[in-house]
Amino acid sequence: MTEERLTLAIQKSGRLSEGSIDLLKQCGIKVTNGGNHLKAAADGFPLEILLLRDDDIPQYVADGVADIGMLGLNEVLEKNKSVEVIKNLGFSRCRLSMAIPRESNYGGRESLQGKRIATSYPAILESFLKENNLSAEIHTLTGSVEIAPGIGMADAIFEIVSSGGTLISNGLKEVEVIMQSEAVLVARPSLSESKQRLLESLLFRIESVQKARKNKYILLNAPKAKLPEITALIPGMKSPTILPLAMEGWCSMHSVISETDFWSVIDRLKAAGAEGILVIPIEKMVM
Ligand code: PRP
Ligand code: ZN
Repeated sequence: MTEERLTLAIQKSGRLSEGSIDLLKQCGIKVTNGGNHLKAAADGFPLEILLLRDDDIPQYVADGVADIGMLGLNEVLEKNKSVEVIKNLGFSRCRLSMAIPRESNYGGRESLQGKRIATSYPAILESFLKENNLSAEIHTLTGSVEIAPGIGMADAIFEIVSSGGTLISNGLKEVEVIMQSEAVLVARPSLSESKQRLLESLLFRIESVQKARKNKYILLNAPKAKLPEITALIPGMKSPTILPLAMEGWCSMHSVISETDFWSVIDRLKAAGAEGILVIPIEKMVM
């Protein structure tokens, strides 16, 4: 009997590709590309990996060539294939924006009426224009959209912005953010029961990694008299671990603290008498 495997499509090269391989690695899955450029083997999980252009991933998943995929939400919405968004992955954050030449004045959305707009996201642009009762000439390009205004091909562009560096180096300025995007995990709608189980176990790993990224391990020394007060500040997963110190009247406390509360809690811990505070990244968190 051959072992059942999930087929995962990821971007072949680019920013999404790095983030996907990195997330898999943190999930204990090593991607090894044995010189084969379309397929890669995975170590540590029954997974077969397809390396594709991100723009093609929705089609491959919808057709069932791949069971699941990692790609930008922007591509999922643009292609509008029958795939299900299972999870936000938190990397490759970017936005889809309208940009115009730096020296032009932007007179609001209405000023886009009748203009030429270059984009690699024609479907999303079309629905944006429709929602705003605008009509414009859409020029669909598959790459280097940012050069279109400079060569007189378009009045504006509608494209992905991450750091904003590409806009600046092409003399453009961002004037409207239309949507936010990040990498997501998608799946085809009707997976077999055994593949569904594999997907759930992959999701469990991804969630453990995501929880760990959001939390820190904290160690500190506290005067015994302050234990209740400090315990209330760092309750952790169940309650903090408390160990006696060799020095009379003091103990060491270990707990978990969320990244977002971090700075405000640190100040209150110090005010409560905590000393020698150490904060350490967590690799995995299983609850
Ligand atoms: C995107 C997008 C822009 C650039 C913006 O391309 O098409 O050209 O990134 O990034 P910045 O604001 O940080 O300069 P990407 O390299 O991700 O590849 P793709 O769109 O061809 O898939
Ligand atoms: Zn792409």
